[in-house]
Amino acid sequence: MTTAAVALSADPFSLSNPELIPDPYPTYAAMRHDEPIHQSSMYGGSWVIFAHDDITTLLRDPRLSNNRATLPIKALPLAQQQEFADIVPVLTRWVAFFDGHDHAVRRQHMNKMCDLFSRDKLAPIIQKAIDTLLAGWSGRHDLISEFARPLPAMVITQLLGAPMDDHVQLAEWSDDIAYLFGASSLTVEDLRRGQRAIHAFARYLRDQTHNAMRRHNPTMITKLVEEETDNFRFILDDACGQAMLLMFAGLEPLRYLIGNATWSLEWHPEQRHLITENDRTLRHAVEEFLRYDGPVQYIGRMVTEDFTYKGHKFTAGQPVLLYIGAANRDENQFRDPETLDLTRRPNPHLSFGRGAHNCIGATLVREQTALALHALATRFPALRVAPDVPPVYNTNLGFRGFSSLTVDTGL
Ligand code: HEM
Repeated sequence: MTTAAVALSADPFSLSNPELIPDPYPTYAAMRHDEPIHQSSMYGGSWVIFAHDDITTLLRDPRLSNNRATLPIKALPLAQQQEFADIVPVLTRWVAFFDGHDHAVRRQHMNKMCDLFSRDKLAPIIQKAIDTLLAGWSGRHDLISEFARPLPAMVITQLLGAPMDDHVQLAEWSDDIAYLFGASSLTVEDLRRGQRAIHAFARYLRDQTHNAMRRHNPTMITKLVEEETDNFRFILDDACGQAMLLMFAGLEPLRYLIGNATWSLEWHPEQRHLITENDRTLRHAVEEFLRYDGPVQYIGRMVTEDFTYKGHKFTAGQPVLLYIGAANRDENQFRDPETLDLTRRPNPHLSFGRGAHNCIGATLVREQTALALHALATRFPALRVAPDVPPVYNTNLGFRGFSSLTVDTGL
């Protein structure tokens, strides 16, 4: 389903535009064509980038930093920023916000621990969570609240070694934190909710890890503290910071990917058979769902030194928003980019980013989405989106997808 490009009078492209959320793709196409490198008034002056080749180049440019821990409060007046200054030391621990060598050593240590995310290890954990959630389904269900939201929360809670019953609380904190990174417009109350969630989550993780260490019961967090990679290991607060990041980074987009994929299939029923045909067709389908309507629409960076890119003057301190959602529909990179083609190969989408910061959870995403879509398609071959219940979009273009999508199982 497509709509027209959104026309905006004040700023041709703004995150604060709720009209953009249901279908941003025509607007992206217009921007790619007319102004692929656009200067916006967002965040007091920022760059918005839309083309695949510019985004892949800039994602590897060392003059763009990932240190964005202050971004959520940057839009507030200086006096008000003080109220939220205490969240910055927690966020600055996240591996995602480091650059260069400091990032590389942390990321290498995380990668070693995330070896635990191998396909063989993940599959039974994911399958068990799917079986629990879909047990007894018939008639109508909200795919998001009853399946796509709890599923990644159950899986990541288990991978972190936290008690399974806590997944509901962890998902709530994670939602409040996610809102700080990508909501179309943040209010002070949103920030206060995020601030409460960050502190409560940090306390929870510290207590859990102290208990696990006392009982000599290794978890991913205790390993980040107790084991070394090339003489590097995390102190406890840093390791808890990474666990918070994994939960927040893992939970939000996965939920939306399952919803967006189900919505895409609804409009392309002729391709449904590819989900159940064999493992290879299923894996290609997952890549195409990531490209066609991925949940992460943009990646943020900060300019660290003045430089000129293709005639545009980037100034130190300016945010740069790289619209991977637009790059994934770039006609210079993909044949028929506006068409969902579950057999598409090659598929160089940017949904997991590129370069040093590429997504650490990609294997988990691929495995979880494949098993989830397969389970839905095999158990409910006649599953359809309920035609009389309008889906509800999340109001956050950073993590784009449905907060509610009612499906009829056909049973
Ligand atoms: C559909 C699901 C997902 C999508 C589309 C996605 C997308 C991305 C993207 C685009 C980046 C790069 C950000 C950048 O360059 O600044 C990223 C980084 C990251 N992702 Fe994911 N992600 C998903 C799920 C997950 C999961 C399940 C986890 C872990 C449990 C995870 C953990 C991370 C972490 C820790 C980073 C930061 C890596 C670094 O900066 O070195 N993500 N993700």
